[in-house]
Amino acid sequence: MKLGIIGTNWITKQFVEAAEMTGEFTLTSVYSRKLATAQKFGADFKNVTEYFDNLSEFFEQGTFEVVYIASPNNLHFEQTLQALKAKKHVIVEKPMFSNPAELKVLQKYLHHHPELYCFEAARHFHEPNFQSVKQAVKELPVIQGADLTYKKYSSRYDQFLAGEEPNVFSPKFSGGALQDLGVYLVYDAISWFGIPEDAHYYPVKLRNGIDGSGTAILNYPGYDVVLNVGKTANSYLPGEIYGLKETIVMDNAAELQKVELVDATGNGTMLSVDPAKNPMLAEAKAFGEVLRDTDSLQNKQLQQEWLAVAVEVNHVLYKLRQSAGLAFPADEHEVNY
Ligand SMILES: NC(=O)c1ccc[n+]([C@@H]2O[C@H](COP(=O)([O-])OP(=O)(O)OC[C@H]3O[C@@H](n4cnc5c(N)ncnc54)[C@H](OP(=O)(O)O)[C@@H]3O)[C@@H](O)[C@H]2O)c1
Repeated sequence: MKLGIIGTNWITKQFVEAAEMTGEFTLTSVYSRKLATAQKFGADFKNVTEYFDNLSEFFEQGTFEVVYIASPNNLHFEQTLQALKAKKHVIVEKPMFSNPAELKVLQKYLHHHPELYCFEAARHFHEPNFQSVKQAVKELPVIQGADLTYKKYSSRYDQFLAGEEPNVFSPKFSGGALQDLGVYLVYDAISWFGIPEDAHYYPVKLRNGIDGSGTAILNYPGYDVVLNVGKTANSYLPGEIYGLKETIVMDNAAELQKVELVDATGNGTMLSVDPAKNPMLAEAKAFGEVLRDTDSLQNKQLQQEWLAVAVEVNHVLYKLRQSAGLAFPADEHEVNY
C-alpha cells in the first residue's frame, strides 16, 4: 500500500521504517508545511514521488491509499476527516482526538463509509506483551488493584522552562501529561480491567494551566487502579497488578519490555517475549494485515473492536480532564462533517 504522511518529526520516521519493514507499506507521499522539510524527510526513503506543502492538494492529488497522521493532537480530528473524505484510510497517532464529540463524528462518518478504515496508533496495545498481561490478569483469582506509572522527562520541558510553550505543553494543542503519556495507561486499564465506574485526576498544573504530571485514580468494583503520569521527571518505578498472593510486575506499564508473574514466595515466571527493536513494528504489522483485505468481515470487525477501545479510552481521558478542570480550546469547537 502506498503511504502518505503528515508530520515530519522523529516519530514519523520511526513509524515509516516500521511500516516498510512489514512489507505492507511504501512511503510515496510526504506533506509538510514547508516543501523543503518534506523533501528532506522523503530523501531517507526510496520510493517517495510526491511532495506537498498544501494539505488540500496532498489529499486531492496524492496517490497514496493510507495516511499516517503525526501532527499536534488538536489537528488530528480535522485531518482525519479530511483524509477520509478523500477516500484514504487513516492511522492517527495517539491520543486520537481531543474529546468524545470528535469521536462521535468519526464513528458516524465510518458508519456511512464502511469501506474506510481508521486506527489509533496506540503502539503498545498491539504488542504481544500487552496481550500476555491481559491473559495473566484474566487468570488472577481476584484483582485487588494496580499501580501503573509512565513518567518521562520531555526534552520539550527544557523549552517550557525557558519560557516557551511547546505544543505538547499547550492546552491550545490539546497537550499535557495525561493526553500524551496517560493515554497509554488508560489503554492498559480499559483493556485489562474494563471500563471504570468512576475516574478522577489530580494534576500538577504548570504556569499555563497544563498538567505537567498527575495521578489518576480509576475506581473498579472492590479495587482501584492508580495511574502516575508525568513529563517533568523520569520514573523508574515498575508497574504492578495485585492478585491475592501473586503480583504481575512489569518494567514499565507503557513500554512492557519485561513482564513477570511473581508468586507468594517471590519467585517470578517470565510472561514477556523480547520486544522488537522498533517499538512501532507490532502496530504497523497489525494495521497492514487488516488493510491487506478491507473486504474481509473479520478485518472490519477487528478495526471496529479497536475503535471501540479507542472510544472508551477517549471517554475516560475526557472524564479525567473534566474532574480536574482541564479544558482545551478544542472542546469549545462545533464539530461536524
Ligand atoms: N507513538 C509514540 O510513541 C509517539 C511518540 C511521540 C509522539 N507521538 C504522537 O505523535 C504526534 C506528534 O508528536 P510530536 O511530538 O512529533 O509533535 P510536534 O513536534 O509538535 O508536531 C509534529 C509535526 O507536526 C507539524 N507541526 C508542528 N507544529 C504545527 C502547527 N502549529 N501546525 C501544524 N502543524 C504543525 C510539524 O511537521 P511539519 O513542520 O513538517 O509541518 C511537526 O513535525 C502527537 O500526537 C504525539 O502524541 C507518538
